[in-house]
Amino acid sequence: MQNNSNIFENDKPALEKLANFRDKDILSASQFSREELDTILGMAAFYEKYLNDRNPLPDMQGRIMASLFFEPSTRTRLSFESAMHRLSGSVITVAESAKSQTSSTVKGETLYDAIRVVDGYADVIVIRSPVIGAANEAAGAAVNPVINAGDGAGEHPTQALLDLYTILKEKGTIDGLTITLLGDLKYGRTVHSLIKLLSLYDCNVVLVSPDELKMPGEIVTDVTKGGVKITEKEDLNEVVSGTDVLYVTRIQQERFDDKAEYERVKSKYIINGDTIESGKDGMSVMHPLPRVNEIETDVDKYQGAAYFRQAINGVPVRMALLALVTGRAL
Ligand code: NCD
Repeated sequence: MQNNSNIFENDKPALEKLANFRDKDILSASQFSREELDTILGMAAFYEKYLNDRNPLPDMQGRIMASLFFEPSTRTRLSFESAMHRLSGSVITVAESAKSQTSSTVKGETLYDAIRVVDGYADVIVIRSPVIGAANEAAGAAVNPVINAGDGAGEHPTQALLDLYTILKEKGTIDGLTITLLGDLKYGRTVHSLIKLLSLYDCNVVLVSPDELKMPGEIVTDVTKGGVKITEKEDLNEVVSGTDVLYVTRIQQERFDDKAEYERVKSKYIINGDTIESGKDGMSVMHPLPRVNEIETDVDKYQGAAYFRQAINGVPVRMALLALVTGRAL
């Protein structure tokens, strides 16, 4: 298999590869081939070079992104909006949680109706919803491309792309690595998407969770059809010394029906200096953030603590996606 580290050395990917993304929706990590991942991440690396030079990029000039966030978000919404601004585009936003609702969905408007209208106001729609499948439904209503920024406990494909980009930047490769996904693998949508991308590589994926929060069986079955090797464990100590990348997740409190169950599992895994000590030399620690108590702040000073760098990588990766699906990367 080819090594992907060259995405950071090359210039813009070939035009015909970029053209394949025009008008595409980004709904699930399972939609990508490995070649397409190279193109997206290569484009992200290209944009990152410009970001570092602080050059204004005109690629999205005259275009509007609508960001519709029906669930809390800091990093995802702001990095999409920052990405659009960095490309000289404009942004219109609806951001609300169940507590503070300002849009017409509170009046009982269907998602279909809302999207039909927003589609006329913008060139690309980014949507987050607590409902699994909402982004697919939005894509069915919109003519313009729709990007899934998280659908309940379903998927979060753009996070998975920036996670992959981060692993490549931190480690130089995906192939040959042992990547351990830890915590709430049942409700955590970031890991549902990430494992699908990792399944396209020749790596080992270790899943560590309490029994109640295991990765859904259908996802495991699906991804093992590829070349990836999957091991499931409950005890991190058994695997940490062989782990190259430790991907920690938050226990998704808001998705539990049974609050007592949340209380039982919420502090099961706490990453601290001892975890780093017993980990493989140079182990990278990632987390999609926000963290609650899963990683002690002491760990932040450790060189392998990659979670803040990971969050910042969201900007070039989302710049690439926005420019690709609107045909402006060409
Ligand atoms: C994640 C999410 O919303 O799924 N956050 C993010 O997008 N960076 C993870 C989480 O909320 O735990």
